[in-house]
Amino acid sequence: MSTTPKTLIAGNWKMYKTEAEAVELASGLAASLHGNLSADREVLLLPPFTALKAVAETILGRDKMLLGGQNFYPSSEGAFTGEIAPFMLADAGCTHALAGHSERRHVLKESDRFIAQKTAFGLQFGLHMILCIGETLDQRTHGSVENVLKGQLRLGLAEVNKDEVTPEHLSIAYEPVWAIGTGKVAQNEDIIAAHDFIRKTLVDFFPHCGSNLRILYGGSVKADNAGTILRLDNVNGVLVGGASLQVESFAAIATAA
Ligand code: 13P
Repeated sequence: MSTTPKTLIAGNWKMYKTEAEAVELASGLAASLHGNLSADREVLLLPPFTALKAVAETILGRDKMLLGGQNFYPSSEGAFTGEIAPFMLADAGCTHALAGHSERRHVLKESDRFIAQKTAFGLQFGLHMILCIGETLDQRTHGSVENVLKGQLRLGLAEVNKDEVTPEHLSIAYEPVWAIGTGKVAQNEDIIAAHDFIRKTLVDFFPHCGSNLRILYGGSVKADNAGTILRLDNVNGVLVGGASLQVESFAAIATAA
């Protein structure tokens, strides 16, 4: 029987930071978290591609500090101008990657089918995949949160080999689109309800491990709300954007009691 892995505190740096700025942030975090991170937590940094290698040299080998890619193209290699393959992420030191982030769904217009291909390809390659899902404000207002979440899970996981799914290889991030970068964090009751629904859906899809897959919350997580969010039922970590860009705020989130 599988067990739930460590609570994951992930920082998605999006399209911010030069290489030098990224190294400064990563080394500041490593110093600040050294000896201060509780045994049941781990920290994942998701810098832009251009800073991956330098951040890897700064943090890898340190206890509970992990590196991930924000994106990749689901093919082993080939003529895909502007894209990056999983083996290149791995070569730079990455063990994790995102799929289905709302900015890629809504700004870059990625389809559920493409997200499904990416999730399955990354898993098969051996990356720990974090599949991001979440409703828009319009979908919430129309009462379709559960339909949207179930649909994104069903479609996003459609191509994975169920036997390959384990808590060591797959996590889900619930990021309500209206809470991302807006300062409008979801109410605790809404987070609990969404995570409970996601948990039931995962147990239904993956009876062998659905109860132990991590479900992260993302959307305006800050130092002053992280502790409360991390204590909610079925919250097994957080995916942080804006507040992951400074040492002080991200270290405070990672160590929030
Ligand atoms: P913010 O924390 O800036 O709302 O971003 C959340 C997010 O998109 C993390 O992936």
